[in-house]
Amino acid sequence: MSKVLLVVGHPDLSQSRANKALVDAVRELAHVTVHDLYATYPDFQIDVDAEQALLADHDVIVFQHPVFWYNTTPLFKQWQDRVFTLGWAFTMDGSASQLAGKKAVVAVTAGVPAEHYTPKARTRPPSRHCSATGTPPCGCASSTSSRWSSCTAPPSASPTKI
Ligand SMILES: Cc1cc2nc3c(=O)[nH]c(=O)nc-3n(C[C@H](O)[C@H](O)[C@H](O)COP(=O)(O)O)c2cc1C
Repeated sequence: MSKVLLVVGHPDLSQSRANKALVDAVRELAHVTVHDLYATYPDFQIDVDAEQALLADHDVIVFQHPVFWYNTTPLFKQWQDRVFTLGWAFTMDGSASQLAGKKAVVAVTAGVPAEHYTPKARTRPPSRHCSATGTPPCGCASSTSSRWSSCTAPPSASPTKI
């Protein structure tokens, strides 16, 4: 059976509903390794060699995190930046990546309804209208750490060139 590595980038699973439920559903499976990044690296000091060895030892990698500002969570991003190095994760000379042949799955949770993630969505990523709307939450009606309300892009917002 394929070995599955679940890389979890939730800042605090004890406060989580969605990500905790996903982790709890597979935690006891013998072929699944649950790797909680925030529990492993509370100081954000990632052991790159250990992470690459862990990835090399699994066949399927699941990237799991909540969507934060249309992005990954901070430590998950740090983990990507540090671990997926040139020459190991990807190459420029046509030689094989150490990840070649593995399968990847993205499992993200979001606070706004599914229709907001369609081409006809009423919201747009904050980077496109923050400067037109001022300070965060940049057009969202309101948000809390536990539940986001629906977001509405203000009529005056227009794409801004950065
Ligand atoms: C700082 C922060 C930023 C967030 N940004 C977004 C966002 O851009 N889009 C979205 O759909 N939800 C956003 N959310 C909502 C989270 O994605 C949502 O609460 C989370 O997926 C729920 O999972 P959990 O129960 O495991 O915490 C944000 C939440 C926080 C705290």
